[in-house]
Amino acid sequence: MQISYVWAVCSALFLPLFYAEAFENFSIPQPRSASSLPGEFTIGKTDISAPDSLDNEAHHLANGLKALGFTPQPGRAVSAAFVLKLGGIEGSEAYKLIINPNQIIIQGSDKAGVFYGIQTLLQQLFHACRLQETTLECGIIEDAPRYPWRGFMLDEARHFFGKEKVLQILDNMARFKLNKFHWHLTDEPGWRLEIKQFPKLASVGGKGSWSQPNDPSCRFYTQDEIKEIIQYAASRHIEIIPEIDMPGHATAANRAYPEYSGGGTPDHPHYTFNPGKEKTYEFLTRILEETSQLFPSAYFHLGGDEVAFASKSWDSLPEVQQLKERENLKSNKEVEGYFVRKMIRQLHEKTGKIAIGWDEMLDAQVPKDHTILMWWRHDRVPVLKEALAQGYRVVMCPRRPLYFDFLQHKSHKWGRVWGGFCPIQDVYEFPDKGFALWNIPTEQQTQIMGLQANLWTERISTPQRVDFMTWPRLCAAAESAWSIPSVKNFDDFSRRLEEAYVFFDQQEIYYFDTRDPERRKEPAGCEKNGNPMPMDYRD
Ligand code: ACM
Repeated sequence: MQISYVWAVCSALFLPLFYAEAFENFSIPQPRSASSLPGEFTIGKTDISAPDSLDNEAHHLANGLKALGFTPQPGRAVSAAFVLKLGGIEGSEAYKLIINPNQIIIQGSDKAGVFYGIQTLLQQLFHACRLQETTLECGIIEDAPRYPWRGFMLDEARHFFGKEKVLQILDNMARFKLNKFHWHLTDEPGWRLEIKQFPKLASVGGKGSWSQPNDPSCRFYTQDEIKEIIQYAASRHIEIIPEIDMPGHATAANRAYPEYSGGGTPDHPHYTFNPGKEKTYEFLTRILEETSQLFPSAYFHLGGDEVAFASKSWDSLPEVQQLKERENLKSNKEVEGYFVRKMIRQLHEKTGKIAIGWDEMLDAQVPKDHTILMWWRHDRVPVLKEALAQGYRVVMCPRRPLYFDFLQHKSHKWGRVWGGFCPIQDVYEFPDKGFALWNIPTEQQTQIMGLQANLWTERISTPQRVDFMTWPRLCAAAESAWSIPSVKNFDDFSRRLEEAYVFFDQQEIYYFDTRDPERRKEPAGCEKNGNPMPMDYRD
């Protein structure tokens, strides 16, 4: 008994150290288990075997091999060097990768699992090929994600980056096994989505940006472009979730259709939709229906953040006063709740989709069975705890450490610094450091669907700055979302990050080099109407 107890304690303490020695893994995120097998696989064989149902995954493996300089040969021969198999594994998105001397087998619990096994293999091969090695160490990797939600949000309402940048981001998300792309398409400066029933949303609302509000050029995605991007993402097992923010952050829509404006503040005119007019709900429901047809995702993000900031303007609207009387609503906060509940109901009834909302929606008592909350106010841990205690499913994206417009180093000047920088190690240590501090009961942790990094783009107007703020922090977020705590180790992650740096260099991605912060200059953030808008510093 005693010996097995000592063994259990020793292995819990030291297995993570043995782990890396057992099989030298180079992939991000860190797999659940990896161990050596005897022998070596000779690199250079290129035939791939996969059933019809895995044609898409075989295509991605072939493309990955091509990028490494090989000439892949897809087929059906069971004796092929690379064999893809579906089923026979528990869980979802799980895979087993076996590297034998003559054959590499990737078996997935589902197609996504096979795809992720391919990503792990390609990262192993990337390392070997860049060092011009001729063999791969044999081994077996068994892997499955910690969380089903592994997300990244891009704000293209403040600044628009366009299709090519989005496709590149999707490619790299897939490489690191991220699976949700949350697209913030509407806000104060711009509306970036073509809606055929209301064409002015794009043709008027699409004009301008955060830094150049008076720019007459129009930037938005046509529905054909949206379909192409969704398809591109889907083949990489990434679901795209659109966000149409309401009832606040609605300025661009109100520029196009002022009849639905509920006013704002002197600095933020027309910031809200008008909750007192029935026509507003009809207008928005039609937008949700048209957008839902475009995006196959089961989810739809309805925003719901920062409404109180401008809802005082509702006091001067007679129709809102009538609504208050009719529905017995005692404050603008209650009107906000009425609006949000009504739009979630409309969404669910008309499209069957599950709503997602920023964490303010907790106050509105939104339905738990078809609403998911995104906890973003890092300084309000009680909101996260209350949401979990009430039984909501939650995606975690607290500003610190998961808002990537926050600066990561003292030499950087353009972005937010609230009570400290937001370095890669903080991203890596999330969420477990938090769980330990916040006392989240273990049984409630199952309501946490995962985590997401958000790139707000007020101070980001170029693709180069998108890269700088995103990478390599998104690699750390990917590992935090995928890997179980017992296999995480920041030093080992830093070793594997060397591969990512070489990969990013090949892609000409302008990442922040955490090894040598002086090596690459911070690309300038933007000015607003010619006025510099440097650091947003708060204690
Ligand atoms: C937010 O950052 N306003 C969700």
